[in-house]
Amino acid sequence: MDYKKLTAERLKEHLEIDVDTLEGLIEVPPRPEMGDYAFPCFQLAKSLKKAPNIIASELKDKINAEGYEKVENLGPYVNFFVDKGTFTKNTVNKILVEKECYGSSTIGDGENIIVEYSSPNIAKPFHVGHLSTTVIGNSLYKIFSFEGYNVERINHLGDWGTQFGKLISAYKRWVDEEALEKHPISELLRIYVKFHDEADKDPSLEDEGRMYFKKLEQGDSEAVALWDRFRKLSLKEFNNIYEMLNVDFDSWAGESFYNDKMDSIVKELEEKGLLVESNGAKVVMLDEYNMPPCIVLKSDGASIYATRDLAAAMYRKKTYDFSKAIYVVGKDQALHFNQVFKVLELAGHDWAKNCIHVPFGIVRFAEKKLSTRKGDVILLDELLSEAVSKTLEVINEKNPTLDNKEEVAKKVGIGAVVFTYLRNSRERDIVFDWKEILNFEGETGPYVQYTYARAKSILRKVGEVSEESDFSKLQSKEEFELVKTLDGFQASILYAIEKLEPSVVTRYIIDVAKAFNKFYNAHSVANVDDISLKSARIKLVEATCQVIKNGLGLIGIETVEKM
Ligand code: ARG
Repeated sequence: MDYKKLTAERLKEHLEIDVDTLEGLIEVPPRPEMGDYAFPCFQLAKSLKKAPNIIASELKDKINAEGYEKVENLGPYVNFFVDKGTFTKNTVNKILVEKECYGSSTIGDGENIIVEYSSPNIAKPFHVGHLSTTVIGNSLYKIFSFEGYNVERINHLGDWGTQFGKLISAYKRWVDEEALEKHPISELLRIYVKFHDEADKDPSLEDEGRMYFKKLEQGDSEAVALWDRFRKLSLKEFNNIYEMLNVDFDSWAGESFYNDKMDSIVKELEEKGLLVESNGAKVVMLDEYNMPPCIVLKSDGASIYATRDLAAAMYRKKTYDFSKAIYVVGKDQALHFNQVFKVLELAGHDWAKNCIHVPFGIVRFAEKKLSTRKGDVILLDELLSEAVSKTLEVINEKNPTLDNKEEVAKKVGIGAVVFTYLRNSRERDIVFDWKEILNFEGETGPYVQYTYARAKSILRKVGEVSEESDFSKLQSKEEFELVKTLDGFQASILYAIEKLEPSVVTRYIIDVAKAFNKFYNAHSVANVDDISLKSARIKLVEATCQVIKNGLGLIGIETVEKM
């Protein structure tokens, strides 16, 4: 139950201010003796021509105090003391009635949002950095959808560009067909790296690569068939990862999709006088905005990464009529997106301001060094498999008789990695340390999962209680803190939307788990003689489970009933 809103509505009965503004003015006092909410009257003094403390005292006398323990006034403030019993009953019942919908709303009103995420590159490994964009994007999709937005999930695959010409040339020279079928991406990477080594010695190889890309652009059947094969082989590997993570997309339109859609934006930029020649290339000058020029066509006339992004933005606006287009891409591409969005703006598309780059930090490893150079990249499927096997070890130690251990290890292990990625604000770098990630006592996925499973086991143990619950008996500090935390679920989701920051929800889930453990350490659920109190505590545990489950769902993690 939203007491802040209720408080605003009660105030509204006596003031000429709209509810939203009132809600914004209401404060949460620093000390409990000042109530749960306080309304400051300073800003009313001028219009009402009265001293703030007089206004406060008059308001306090007039206000409808039903549902509050009491309403008082301290100096220029009206102080509201929530009736704990009513608050608890309303909150817990709401959760148990709304179940998996608790926390959701229709606030988004069907507004169209694009979330572009993951977007790995064909023929290149899906590395730990791609996991960031994948899990952040997936979570933003879930969060926005939960609040009633209409979200289109796009995987902007890196499946076009001069590197495919080089790859075709490398394929023709050095491929090992058997290896290609077995481990496609590592074989493609091997010949691609070899191409660069050889081209250092024989620069004419570069020309050959360019020639093949030209063929590809012109639709040459052999070049297209090879490109298509590389793409399919890579996608098969990517799909394994998406399956492990339970991640999906509505559109897989990658860079190649825009091959025949770039002419119109190039023409438009030309007509609007924005394109200038620079060393044979065509560029949009951005020095006025303290940025290097945005290259639109290279000197050989070929398109480039930015050209495809310009075309993609135009296409998406036309196709999805978005109110927001979110690009979840590493912060090293900030300049690229600033350039692309600026060019769109200069071309007169004021919706460019609704294109938002959502950056994130890099992943570092406590133990191993992460490097692409030597080809010893840490591959994501290996990382996830390791998470699962390490979790299985812990389970074998802690609970060797558990049913379907593999299944549990999969959810908890992969969940632990995802949780780590979404735990801190996304722009912070992640230091990946197995000991910390799988620690059941830290602020980790396993800690939250274990809290959930423990709460579930309490519920199994106590079974059904038919007696009415008396929520007014849940008066302890720990109980009320837990209820207040559960009540804050939707507020945390809305804040996550405002900040485009799934970590807000992750941190919230940690708060719920902590509040629950404090409650459970201080109070028994099973051994209570007063049945109406016992029943209320059971409901509180049920509500907690529901909120943890809904919360984890929003960051893309499944719960387990036992572990
Ligand atoms: N494929 C790129 C990479 O792996 C990311 C694509 C980002 N999205 C975009 N619209 N440019 O670095």
